Amino acid sequence: MTEIRSLAETREPEAAAEWWRSSVIYQIYPRSFADANGDGMGDLPGITARLQSLADLGVDAIWLSPFFTSPQKDAGYDVSDYCDVDPLFGTLEDYDAMVARAHELGLRVIVDLVPNHCSDQHPWFQQALATPPGSPERDRFIFRDAPESGLPNNWESVFGGPMWTQTANPDGTAGQYYLHIFDSSQPDFNWHNEQVREMFRGVLRFWLDRGTDGFRVDVAHGLIKSDGLPDYAVDPAAASMGGTEELAPWWGQDGVHEIYRDWRRVLDEYDGERVLCAEAWVSPLSLMAKWVRPDEMHQAFNFPYLSCDFNAARIRATIDESLREFSAVGAPSTWVLSNHDVVRHATRLALTEDNPQGEGIGPLTPNLPDTAIGLRRARSASTLMLALPGGAYLYQGEELGLPEAVELPDEARQDPTWFRTNGERYGRDGCRVPIPWEAGVPAAGFSPTGESWLPQPAGWEDYARDVQRATADSTLNLYTALLRLRRGHALGAGTLAWLETGDPEVLAFRNNDVVVVSSFAGSERELPACTTGLAVLASSAPQPSGRQIAAESTVWFRA
Ligand code: BGC
Repeated sequence: MTEIRSLAETREPEAAAEWWRSSVIYQIYPRSFADANGDGMGDLPGITARLQSLADLGVDAIWLSPFFTSPQKDAGYDVSDYCDVDPLFGTLEDYDAMVARAHELGLRVIVDLVPNHCSDQHPWFQQALATPPGSPERDRFIFRDAPESGLPNNWESVFGGPMWTQTANPDGTAGQYYLHIFDSSQPDFNWHNEQVREMFRGVLRFWLDRGTDGFRVDVAHGLIKSDGLPDYAVDPAAASMGGTEELAPWWGQDGVHEIYRDWRRVLDEYDGERVLCAEAWVSPLSLMAKWVRPDEMHQAFNFPYLSCDFNAARIRATIDESLREFSAVGAPSTWVLSNHDVVRHATRLALTEDNPQGEGIGPLTPNLPDTAIGLRRARSASTLMLALPGGAYLYQGEELGLPEAVELPDEARQDPTWFRTNGERYGRDGCRVPIPWEAGVPAAGFSPTGESWLPQPAGWEDYARDVQRATADSTLNLYTALLRLRRGHALGAGTLAWLETGDPEVLAFRNNDVVVVSSFAGSERELPACTTGLAVLASSAPQPSGRQIAAESTVWFRA
């Protein structure tokens, strides 16, 4: 079987009305993408200089994790000025230059909006601390009194420890508590306060006016808390970011939807199909679909899909459920396998325990996954994902097949999860290590000086982009071929029809004129009859000659 015959098979893409319905959006984690000034922290000029490589990869848009002014207590998800760039990352002019370059290359730009909470250094929170209980300044946040020995309620922060921190009065006596779903440096806004709503309308307009194409909305399920803030204990077995059938009183409350309808009206004032994408860890998918009803957001991340282990039946059921529930509200499904909050899928898919979300893995994790198995499964899973109709999200470095950096030294770790749980949970640093660009140069090309805010593991440069460009069967070349084919065959805008395989570990479907076969089996299996006589377009792994499909691999055929 020939491996990849992509180039000759491409066709022009269909007209991209409502581009977001079928787009591939690449997540840039600015700290770790490319560092132009050599301080070891990625920056906006670094991104601008490397955008050509993303255009070459063939993505449609980029989404940038926060680069706004921030004390960086949660890697920028603690914002102290929503309308400026943190000097670590550059200036507003650098942002404008980056957008101009992206647009020149045909890439749209999405920024991260963090509306659930700000930094405790935000001027509004500082004003709240400086004014007495009951002041209008405090009403922008969630301040409460507590009984003498105790807290306002029993809620636990996502990062560990209580969701409440006590303040000190100006005279030094113990004061009120404020609520923070995440770190104590991230006080939650009170979204019942009209000033908060007005401030965020202004933030949207600020970035839209600069040519920004849309927003990924952080914690889009958290803004409204249940009236009265009733006690609630999270089931420890449930995902920490939500995703339980029974919603915690701080997740997924109905009141969030009018906020997004309001924002949608703001976006619709602008030309050029600007978009909102929800980071909403709610399940089941029928509930998540509420975030993408016609007058709300355009897309929501499909976390149930990301949370699937490497299992044919569960993947198929999740694909069916996704297509059914999102299309019931007229929205495209999205697909995602990695981001800056979860163990990279080239490692995660080889874990032997279910769903590591929120925990992270490190040197002392039992049963550390096998790198070769992880990469094989990741290539197969990505090859399957990129054939699905709807939008797809990629996380920087997955196109290089990067594994989780498991061996990070304790003293290098920066995730608040690590500190708030006294090292019990490793957290998310392992998926955030600066990515390699070139072999044989300092920091594998991430920074000109060799500085890197998290150390790159030994062997990182083997994954470098230049090495992979020169290697025919590299993961980078696989992704590039898949994206070109996906566009050429309009798979993002297509329709999925399952095909019979007669083998529970082998899935097959047709999308437009492409037939996809994906084997989850640990050994070679018979190819299904529907592929007889069809030419191979792409394959995640070398295939045996004859009518077999290799273990844990996915193949695209021309129907
Ligand atoms: C982001 C995380 C962040 C948290 C708090 C999220 O879900 O993706 O990286 O720590 O929100 O802002």
